[in-house]
Amino acid sequence: MTIRLPGLIDPHVHVREPGQTHKEDWDTATQAALAGGVTTILAMPNTKPPIFDAATLELALGAAKAKARCDYAQYLGAGPINAAEAARLAPRAAGLKMYLDSTFGELRLDDMTFWMQHFQAWPRNLPIVAHSESRSMAAIILMAALYDRPVHIAHVSLREEILLIKAAKERGLPVTCEVTPHHLFLTKEDIPHISQGHPGRGEVRPRLASKADVDALWQNLDVIDCFATDHAPHTLAEKDGENPPPGFPGLETMLSLLLTAVNDGRLTLDEIIQKCVLNPRRIFCLPEQPETWVEVDENARWEIRAADLRSRCGWTPFEGWRVRGRVTRVVLRGREAFKDGEILAEPGYGRNLRE
Ligand code: NCD
Ligand code: ZN
Repeated sequence: MTIRLPGLIDPHVHVREPGQTHKEDWDTATQAALAGGVTTILAMPNTKPPIFDAATLELALGAAKAKARCDYAQYLGAGPINAAEAARLAPRAAGLKMYLDSTFGELRLDDMTFWMQHFQAWPRNLPIVAHSESRSMAAIILMAALYDRPVHIAHVSLREEILLIKAAKERGLPVTCEVTPHHLFLTKEDIPHISQGHPGRGEVRPRLASKADVDALWQNLDVIDCFATDHAPHTLAEKDGENPPPGFPGLETMLSLLLTAVNDGRLTLDEIIQKCVLNPRRIFCLPEQPETWVEVDENARWEIRAADLRSRCGWTPFEGWRVRGRVTRVVLRGREAFKDGEILAEPGYGRNLRE
């Protein structure tokens, strides 16, 4: 049976343009999005150069305007000297991304006085997203409480983290969070299978966690505001080479993995709509997309194969997984954007939702 969902919003995507278009660019990232039923992506700022001021924001938005096939907005990265300029540019950005733990790229803020400058300057009504694991998560939630403004926690993966957020929410603190499909469907026990003898393929930040951690995420689904892919494409050559960069692609597999969980009775369609559409729309202050929907063949079974995916990275940690539920058609703002495996939206059709 064909069911209709609203277009999904993915608030955490690494597009890789400017600077690393051999991994992905605005064209291939938005093709992958549409094929996965995602009609809005929010693009992370850890590109080359990173997006942190007016000139670099122009660079990213110029590429997006020419090439994006679905709707989008671009994050600014929080650095040590850009609090005032970032705040001035805030209305044009998806939000402010703060990197508080080590990961791919150059953006990382250790000194908490820099966090304070950004919390002071960034408009209270626009989103701040924190890559903050474990104890730095506790610290950034305190910062949100001190400055009395919301913070959204990226890619929660641990039991201690989801329990911390649950406790903070029970206290009424202004915190929301997202979980990725790979932290919901994979544990560290899966790494040997993902790696196929190349340990770099299992590298991702946050790292894949234990079964107890994954179970805690499923037990606290009501604490999870959004599902977000953290689509982080790196080529197989890079993953299998020296110093493999961390990151998994995810745009084309998220919805089918979630629909498979619905089929297994672990999730409801209503929860998918809450966490992939309604909550991200509210948290990230995004407009409704008129005449936009995704048609899904609920019962279609298919096998995930990197060779069939549109991402330029050429691999997936879910290779060989048999999933149930497939996107058959996407209508974006009144026009057919994807049908039966074919991308129909042209480069440049995507709109900047912060314009
Ligand atoms: C991301 C990347 O490759 O840009 N990698 C990752 O492992 N998630 C960066 C990030 O989101 O931490
Ligand atoms: Zn990320």
